[in-house]
Amino acid sequence: MAFIHPLVILAAVICGIYTGTLGWKRFQYKRGKAPASAFPWQRHIRWGRRFIILLWIGSLIGIGYVLYKTGPALTTGLHASVGILILILFSIGTSFGLLLSKKKGTDRLASVHMGINYGTFIIVAVQIVLGVLLLTFFYPG
Ligand code: HEM
Ligand code: HEM
Repeated sequence: MAFIHPLVILAAVICGIYTGTLGWKRFQYKRGKAPASAFPWQRHIRWGRRFIILLWIGSLIGIGYVLYKTGPALTTGLHASVGILILILFSIGTSFGLLLSKKKGTDRLASVHMGINYGTFIIVAVQIVLGVLLLTFFYPG
């Protein structure tokens, strides 16, 4: 049971990395290094949506499992706090993406969208280490 959360998060991270590689093509276009057609606009949005939905579902499963096992949730210390931070940052980053997809954004917003989403992946790397530690030491067997 304790593995369900990491597996859903892993699926989310794969979707997110793929979304990020598609976004990079748009960034290359903006710098004049790729044609506009290199950026698959709709596919980027589709995979971005899958990413944020899986991230939320995976995190809620983690919270639900802690709740079920120990009573109160958000008690795993750093992993819980960093997890909430990640959820907030990606929710903001992808909501800017939604604005951009409705053509309501500027180049500046696109850069902020990119900065928040790429930057948060650095925190995700830390969170994966914290998660593996949690799985190993706090949930033996
Ligand atoms: C629901 C989720 C998402 C939606 C709806 C979305 C939408 C968009 C749209 C419409 C653009 C084009 C903006 C423009 O040039 O006017 C864009 C650009 C971009 N997106 Fe996303 N996106 C999402 C998630 C993500 C994620 C998770 C990442 C990174 C991991 C990402 C990275 C990028 C990058 C790097 C660009 C290029 C920015 C630039 O040209 O300066 N996006 N996104
Ligand atoms: C983006 C990455 C991740 C986020 C946002 C995240 C978020 C969370 C949250 C919010 C909780 C609930 C904590 C609590 O209520 O105290 C949790 C629990 C947990 N997380 Fe993560 N997590 C991530 C990645 C990982 C990874 C990669 C692993 C393991 C390899 C992991 C292992 C665990 C474990 C073992 C729990 C306890 C509950 C359970 O096993 O379902 N997490 N996580």
